[in-house]
Amino acid sequence: MTDVAKRAAAVAAAALVQSGMVVGLGSGSTMRFAIEALAAKLRDEGLRFVGVPTSVAVAASARALGISLTELDGPVDLAIDGADEIERGTMRLIKGLGGALLREKIVVESSRRFVVVANSEKLVE
Ligand code: A5P
Repeated sequence: MTDVAKRAAAVAAAALVQSGMVVGLGSGSTMRFAIEALAAKLRDEGLRFVGVPTSVAVAASARALGISLTELDGPVDLAIDGADEIERGTMRLIKGLGGALLREKIVVESSRRFVVVANSEKLVE
């Protein structure tokens, strides 16, 4: 069930990506589903975008799926990333348990829009 919810969040986020965008690629297991969904759109729909990875591991998995990558040298159109905890009602997040917090924060701060991919297990009081 968890993976079903993670994949659903990931697919919804990937649907926001349009050709020509620079997309921040966050870390974590939910992001793996998002990267797979983006790769499928690239392959099946001709979606053209470049990713800005938030870790070496994310860069490797995105590259292996055929996603073009770039350095962070300008604005990011849309950053997608997971969260460790989400405060119910405020949407305040705790991130960083995956160990990529610095790059994740830099990419998000450089982004016009930030979309969080998470399931209801992440909601806390
Ligand atoms: C990375 O530093 C983390 O903040 C992850 O984004 C977070 O742990 C979410 O990971 P999962 O999608 O695996 O729950």
